[in-house]
Amino acid sequence: MNYLKERILKDGKVYPNNVLKVDSFLNHQIDPAVVNAVEKLMYEHFKDRKITKVMTIEASGIAPAIMVANRFNVPMLFAKKTVPSTLKNQERYHALVHSYTKNTDSDVIVSKQYINKDDHILIIDDFLANGEAAKGLVSIARQAGATVAGVGIVIEKSFQPGRQLLEEMGLDVYSICRIQSLEDGQVTFVDGDE
Ligand code: G4P
Repeated sequence: MNYLKERILKDGKVYPNNVLKVDSFLNHQIDPAVVNAVEKLMYEHFKDRKITKVMTIEASGIAPAIMVANRFNVPMLFAKKTVPSTLKNQERYHALVHSYTKNTDSDVIVSKQYINKDDHILIIDDFLANGEAAKGLVSIARQAGATVAGVGIVIEKSFQPGRQLLEEMGLDVYSICRIQSLEDGQVTFVDGDE
């Protein structure tokens, strides 16, 4: 069992509506040992993909993404949920991202300056649930004519449709922890996923 799964079993808390709280080590307080493990496993999986840039979406994707970018020695670019006043409409790519959890829509943006057709982009995020965030990032990469080399996820809720959505878009999805169920307050990983 990898270190991330051990931490989820030890410190993760299951909340109503299938929400897993991991804010003691991943998305509020962040344990460097956790993001170090993420960095190593992501590098192992994607090292042959000629990655030129790591992309994520603010806020919680930033910590794992910067660690992975550091390992690949490439820049990390995060999509913003609010538009900076200095960035004109024609200077940015955007995508509408629906959050089922929060029931909100965000128009996320990336400056056209930082992504181009020669990029091989690795998308990194902390959670994959419905796949809306990753789908928005793929859309932005493709608007720029860039190649999406893969999607790397720390925690996948495999009982939600995100993975299937991304695989149907032709993407390689690699998740460090795949959760099969959060029923009865118990975390169960996907069978054989050790
Ligand atoms: P998606 O991320 O796959 O698109 O699915 P969804 O719309 O369901 O998720 C919306 C937000 O909720 C995302 O964060 C996602 O990371 C987070 N989320 C989904 N399931 C869980 C869960 O079980 N536990 C926790 N802690 N978060 C979950 P976001 O809107 O991008 O917000 P941010 O926290 O990164 O700012």
